[in-house]
Amino acid sequence: QDLNLQEIHDFMVSIARKAGETITEAHPTTGSSGTKKNSVDLVTETDQAVEKLVSTSLREKYPDFEFMGEETYQPGQTLTPAPTFICDPIDGTTNFVHRHPYVSISLGLSVSLSPVIGIVYNPFTGVLYSAIRGQGAFVEFPSSHKKQKLPLTEPTKLDSLSNCLVAVEWGSDRSGTDFAVKSRTFTRLAATRESGGGMVHGIRSFGSAALNLCAVASGSLDVYWEAGCWAWDVCAGWVILEEAGGIMVDANPGNWEPRIEERRYMAVRGGEGQRGIVEEFWGLVEGRFEVG
Ligand code: IPD
Repeated sequence: QDLNLQEIHDFMVSIARKAGETITEAHPTTGSSGTKKNSVDLVTETDQAVEKLVSTSLREKYPDFEFMGEETYQPGQTLTPAPTFICDPIDGTTNFVHRHPYVSISLGLSVSLSPVIGIVYNPFTGVLYSAIRGQGAFVEFPSSHKKQKLPLTEPTKLDSLSNCLVAVEWGSDRSGTDFAVKSRTFTRLAATRESGGGMVHGIRSFGSAALNLCAVASGSLDVYWEAGCWAWDVCAGWVILEEAGGIMVDANPGNWEPRIEERRYMAVRGGEGQRGIVEEFWGLVEGRFEVG
């Protein structure tokens, strides 16, 4: 099937911008949010309304494509090789209900189980990231209205994890093996080299997987490590990351070729030495995630 990726990309950008208006016009409160799984897995009416808007527009224009979205996902639904739009209407719902503006709409297209188009748009800052497989990744700031290629500057060498700024996320699973793996690994990453730790420059937890991936693509984060998020959190950011020279591997040590539905991810920015950083990080992971 010959797809006009540029045309699809342009349409996805227009949908993301339109969805952004709905997001910025909403007045969410922590009290008005519902929950899906537990008290930290939040969902709002706006998540649902935005997904409806996005899926309706996409289905109308591309009726043969599949659609997978966070709000309409049914357990057991799996990604097929068919062209599939993968959408997180609000990535960073917790930030959204707290009025913390690190929020995005994440809209990707996967073909043959591989992400090929990614749009990540933060409607509060107006910053839009986009990529088409094989054609580079770009960022557009509202002040310039001009697309700039990512990364914005030539990436420096990645010589040691101890010089890295690392993003991690707690996610919504706060018990069991995976929570323990995260907690122990976060501590070890921060600890001194003498005590067997990574002594990284800093650990950040911003609350949007899609924007985290774009920050790694941009080079403002060196590494992002998470298990537990979903295909809609990472599909779009994945293309943007790789088109900017970054790599995506498994959060569990040893697997260089993660699959989108495995729910374990580590992104490392572009630059000489990135595989060494992966190995150094994997050496500090305390245990193995069960998710995926
Ligand atoms: C969440 C965010 C968060 C990550 C979670 C995701 P949501 O997405 O990306 O950073 O830690 O795993 O589920 O629920 O805000 O769309």
